[in-house]
Amino acid sequence: MNSNQLVQLKKAGEIIPKSELESFITAYVNESIGDDEMTPFLKAVHANGMTDEETIILTDIMLNSGDRIHFSGMDPYVADKHSTGGVGDKVSMVLGPIMAAAGLAIPMLTGRSLGHTGGTTDKFETIPGYQTSLTLEQFKANVETVGICIMGQTETICPADRKIYALRDVTGTIDSIPLISGSIMSKKIAEGIQGLVLDIKTGNGAFMKTVDEALSLGRMLQMVGEAFGVKTDVVYSSMNQPLGRTAGLWCEMAESIDALQGDGEKDLMKVVFELGSKLLVQAGITRSETSAISIQENLVQSGKAYEKFEEMVVAQGGDLSNASQLHQPRFEKTVYAESSGYIEFMDTLNIGWAGVALGCGRRQKDDRLDPTAGIEFKAKIGDKVAKGDPLFWCFNSNENQLNSAINSLQDSARIGPEKTTHKLFFNN
Ligand code: URA
Repeated sequence: MNSNQLVQLKKAGEIIPKSELESFITAYVNESIGDDEMTPFLKAVHANGMTDEETIILTDIMLNSGDRIHFSGMDPYVADKHSTGGVGDKVSMVLGPIMAAAGLAIPMLTGRSLGHTGGTTDKFETIPGYQTSLTLEQFKANVETVGICIMGQTETICPADRKIYALRDVTGTIDSIPLISGSIMSKKIAEGIQGLVLDIKTGNGAFMKTVDEALSLGRMLQMVGEAFGVKTDVVYSSMNQPLGRTAGLWCEMAESIDALQGDGEKDLMKVVFELGSKLLVQAGITRSETSAISIQENLVQSGKAYEKFEEMVVAQGGDLSNASQLHQPRFEKTVYAESSGYIEFMDTLNIGWAGVALGCGRRQKDDRLDPTAGIEFKAKIGDKVAKGDPLFWCFNSNENQLNSAINSLQDSARIGPEKTTHKLFFNN
């Protein structure tokens, strides 16, 4: 079948035979066909979706297009976590070390900023000396010796996804549930994990704006995980306001360190413990999620989780000896409440873009980030504020960028007479 026939099949809602799909994608990855043939196919998938079987085949082709890590023969349960991305989402930085302190092995390949959302790799790079591009051998060795390694994506894991993702990015085909599922799951499965917990964000600051969209994505990701023998749990959490106290670069790393030392914001710790409980139950460390929460609390209170974080940082060349003096911003400004009442709505998407304007994310691929940049949230949904109270404290080292962020934040928190409660989790 040629590419035109495949597109016609997809448009007619027919199932593409496995061998045809395999040879088509393989031909694109090997460059025997080009973007001109792949683009109509991606658009047809974007418009018509894919069956479970087709999504599994897509994942498999991407997975086998590059290197895979094998942890066979290793005792600890090997697991990872993935989030669909949000504002102030620092869960990986806190959860990873807690899980490693609990005895799990955590090989975590993280991403850079995407649109209005922050990137875990970018945040780790604010630690002086911290290496985010180790070889896969070093990555694996660190997981085996320290119990955890967190670094960026490598060129050799799922090159087919890299190539197709780049084309999706410029053809308006990013937001397709089967394409997202193949893309995310191939990279996670390539880490050699036995278990995975997914944090599907939903709300006005998430890529999945509605609970229904989030549920569809969650179900497909879980289906793919299980098809590859990876125990996969899904948590649906809110992105109707930023998570935790801050959104930015070094400030989020500092907040994560506080959290690992026992001073974590309630919403952040609830999400961390919820995800962590799924992994501890998967790993057989405990049977009940209630005891899983107390195991995690103890690891934080005893200092073991923070010790694991320090061990990981040192193993990757990082130096936190001067942490309290790091990345001092040159400029700062505050956005104040213009009336009294309760915060009833936060425009999280807008807050995320204000963070990008400050220097925490990229509009263009080569934009330079400002490690000093960030926003501290002085009030969140349900909080009572009086006119003139601080809402957003913004900081960075470029005054023009600071002013443009401040302007866009003016209307990002709506104040009203009713005390609203923020719902942190949605059930499936
Ligand atoms: N993140 C990925 O890795 N792939 C997607 O398609 C979307 C988000």
